[in-house]
Amino acid sequence: MTGVGSAEAPIGVFDSGLGGLTVLRALHELLPGEDLVYFGDTARVPYGTKGEKTVRAFAQQDAGLLVTRGVKMVVVACNTASAFALDYLREILPVPVLGVINPGVRTALASTRGGAVGVIGTSGTIRSLKYQAGLAAAGLSEGQIVAQECPLFVPLMEEGLHAHRMTELAIEEYLEPLRAAQVDTLILGCTHYPLLKAEIAEFMGPDVQLVDSANALAVAAQDRLGELGLLRADATAGREGELSFLLSDIPWKFQEIGARFLGKPIENMKTVGLDEMEEAGHAMEQL
Ligand code: DGL
Repeated sequence: MTGVGSAEAPIGVFDSGLGGLTVLRALHELLPGEDLVYFGDTARVPYGTKGEKTVRAFAQQDAGLLVTRGVKMVVVACNTASAFALDYLREILPVPVLGVINPGVRTALASTRGGAVGVIGTSGTIRSLKYQAGLAAAGLSEGQIVAQECPLFVPLMEEGLHAHRMTELAIEEYLEPLRAAQVDTLILGCTHYPLLKAEIAEFMGPDVQLVDSANALAVAAQDRLGELGLLRADATAGREGELSFLLSDIPWKFQEIGARFLGKPIENMKTVGLDEMEEAGHAMEQL
């Protein structure tokens, strides 16, 4: 379902927690004039270890909350929620919905030099097989797709353990099979992995192209809003858009973690109760 929005309305972005701020940051850099409303489900993060039914129910509430705030588009920044809930959200929401998987796949296909493509993500994202299906649909053979779950990267990045030997060990453990398979392109299929880009690039070597799904998604959002006539006239210049933040909990280290993902301090933040989220989820069924 696609409703008629207004170009002046904000873009809504949601994630399981604070990791999606990497996507918000990419959107804000590309479209600085757009107002952005972010929802992070910090009370229920992580999604990457949870099953499909649970992630879909949470995603319905997250997206519903943004729709009740009058957004013109919902961006699913979370790879796990994109994998399990994107098609469903497109059926039930009255606004256009974008996920991170297709933009990431498209960018990887444009970058590969005909060798193998690697994809790394949470257990949920990798087991959903969504990235693998997207690559296979473009003609890549099974042997050209190398997928790897990297569950420890999320907590390591939340703890800020860059350049730490625990992170080095995790990189070696998870990425050695991809290096051995000589992938020429690697999709960073999780909100948290752009923060590890330098370390991953160093391990994989200069010939491996890293695909950051946050940047790929920002470009896709600009294109889609343009096609729908929903891009602000001053989206790319002449206006500083407002950023606002809704969270279902305030984690202990949220200012520190949030600033790390967003690249600047989080201001303009409100908490939302789980009861309000449940209501917003139900409201989407009645549209
Ligand atoms: N946002 C999640 C993703 O991109 C990572 C964190 C989580 O497991 O919830 O898949």
